[in-house]
Amino acid sequence: MTKVISTINLKGGVGKTQMTVALAEFLAMEHNKRVLLIDLDPQTNATVSLIDENVWLTKDQNGETLLQLFKDKLEKTSRFNINQAIVRRASNVAGGIRNLDLLPSSLGLIEIQDSLPLIPAGRFYVTSPVTILKEVISGVLDEYDLVLIDCPPNLGIITLNGIYISDYYLIPCIPDILSTYGIPQIIGRVKNFKQETKINIEPLGIVISMYRAQSRLHDTTIRDLRGRASRGEYPRIFDTVIPLTVRSAESADFSATVNTLKQKYGYGGVFGNYQNLTKELLNYV
Ligand SMILES: Nc1ncnc2c1ncn2[C@@H]1O[C@H](COP(=O)(O)OP(=O)(O)O)[C@@H](O)[C@H]1O
Ligand SMILES: [Mg+2]
Repeated sequence: MTKVISTINLKGGVGKTQMTVALAEFLAMEHNKRVLLIDLDPQTNATVSLIDENVWLTKDQNGETLLQLFKDKLEKTSRFNINQAIVRRASNVAGGIRNLDLLPSSLGLIEIQDSLPLIPAGRFYVTSPVTILKEVISGVLDEYDLVLIDCPPNLGIITLNGIYISDYYLIPCIPDILSTYGIPQIIGRVKNFKQETKINIEPLGIVISMYRAQSRLHDTTIRDLRGRASRGEYPRIFDTVIPLTVRSAESADFSATVNTLKQKYGYGGVFGNYQNLTKELLNYV
């Protein structure tokens, strides 16, 4: 059965997109899983790190990104075709990873996201604006073992579309005060949404990202988080921690020519950490 995992944090810049992209690549390449990454974030960072920018711009103009899916609902059209929108063999590793597909995002989502809650349920929705993604994704889910969703840093309608189809959600988090602040809100809001819509989502856990080894604040925050998790106040904290590394930003560059994941993330970078994170994640799903 296909497992769908959303990554969420209310704060941006916590390494969420890089982690989601890396997990997708490692699952597809090292574990031979059939993976679909859905980029729900209007910032399109996952999209442009996985496919060529010009390919993406053309697709966006042709209505082959998630913008068209949501636009159809606003304009009562039906131009979006999921099979045309999905890009096969995504990633710059080895010229594209065989089992890795991408459903691309669009900057245009920024403009329409505020209009989405205003459309009433009716002819164009099965039930409400949170089921829009589900309506189109159901037809292709069988083609994948795992679907990863990079959500925007909020819990708006677009994110809820991702949550609605998810079995699990993952919270990447820098171990400092501002980044951990929103954790109870995320858990609470998802729980309420789950009750309202009768979905089956469960927290998969919290992953510490951008960890600084010399930081006392990071160490005390991690200890506090692990304490809360062991008392059942928080979901599990993954054993694997993703450190802050200087080379990390380069991995988001699609134009870089790389042949292996080790080349993309390794050599003083986070290769081993993502490798462990992927294995740990597979133990839990
Ligand atoms: N482990 C890391 N170490 C250093 N920089 C990182 C790490 N993970 C991500 N980054 C960089 O930090 C910035 C924000 O990361 P990103 O994954 O886009 O975060 P988010 O999706 O949470 O906004 C990007 O420039 C990214 O390349
Ligand atoms: Mg992001």
